[in-house]
Amino acid sequence: MTILGIETSCDETAVAIIEGKKDYVELKTNVLATSLALHAKTGGIIPEQAAREQLKYILPTLKKALDTPSILKTHARDTHDTRGTLDTLKNIDAIAVTYGPGLIGSLLVGVETAKTLAYALNKPIIPVNHMVGHIYANFIHENSKLVPSPQSLIPNFPALALVVSGGHTDLLLMKKHGDFKLLGGTRDDAAGEAFDKIGRMLGFAYPAGPEIERRAKLGDPKRFRFPRPLLSDKNHEFSFSGLKTAVLREVQTVKQLNTETVNDICRATQDAIIDVLVKKTLRAANEYHVTSILLSGGVAANQTLRDTFQQKITDQKLNVKLFAPAKNLCTDNAAMIASAAYFNFEPKPWSEITADPELYF
Ligand code: KG4
Ligand code: ZN
Repeated sequence: MTILGIETSCDETAVAIIEGKKDYVELKTNVLATSLALHAKTGGIIPEQAAREQLKYILPTLKKALDTPSILKTHARDTHDTRGTLDTLKNIDAIAVTYGPGLIGSLLVGVETAKTLAYALNKPIIPVNHMVGHIYANFIHENSKLVPSPQSLIPNFPALALVVSGGHTDLLLMKKHGDFKLLGGTRDDAAGEAFDKIGRMLGFAYPAGPEIERRAKLGDPKRFRFPRPLLSDKNHEFSFSGLKTAVLREVQTVKQLNTETVNDICRATQDAIIDVLVKKTLRAANEYHVTSILLSGGVAANQTLRDTFQQKITDQKLNVKLFAPAKNLCTDNAAMIASAAYFNFEPKPWSEITADPELYF
């Protein structure tokens, strides 16, 4: 089964095509148009501006995905030549689209495009929760000739999913495909939001996660120590707004915010976030006897987070396997939406699909 995915919930305009292979999906094409440069200038996303950009990008992004040489039957001669595009569309079995959570204007761009395609082509359409999509990035592989065998690369259940993005920090128990139980979320700021807000205090462009990760490698781990909120609480909830306040206090106290101090603050910030995420997730993994841990969301692109998880699993001799998507599939993309639709194939009549900005688990 071949699925076309569309994702426009926040600042990206993304279209991807995947092919279902029973217990994983193969990525055929993954196209992304980003308006990040614009948001970097304004220090964050202005919703109206994001949606306007997405309206401009959606059709060229769709055409680029459908014109991918490896799946295209007839080569397009120019941008107005739609013969190959239409051929590829005919070979699509279903359309998947993010319907929430996200920014209403942005979501509508993807939802209305997907509905139009489903209606015009008479294809099934599957609405996908963006957060569930993030988790399903763990089931995507680039090509079918996988070494080692695909089986060793496929998560087993029960699994624990940690979604760490700009808007969410959620811990979920996944007993089988589509069966999610929310164990806990963040009470205030999400992990990615903490990276971004602290980065802004330090003068970094949005999104600040990658820059904090880069500088943390150069920082002294002993100079600052920031609080680890809710670390010893037995619940599965998170809170990162206190960390932001502690960093702000430090930034106001230090006399000179030179490169060395900024790097040291980055190191202490990242250490605090990773410490909380790893300890609380592994505690839940023990409690629920899971066999896999699935990391996902933009923050899961952080290599130090991945390495720390693996190191602690080894140190504690835990019988659990760690999974994390390819880094470009941690941040928002449409392949994860198509992947979620493949494993949870629940088409709905196009006329019943509406964008839901407040959707949760
Ligand atoms: O999942 P995502 O692309 O968008 C949402 O659905 O929110 O996540 C974006 C978030 C941003 O807060 C960004 O700073 C963070 O992911 N991020 C990182 C890294 N790469 C992206 N945080 C820490 N380290 C990174 N390498
Ligand atoms: Zn996301």
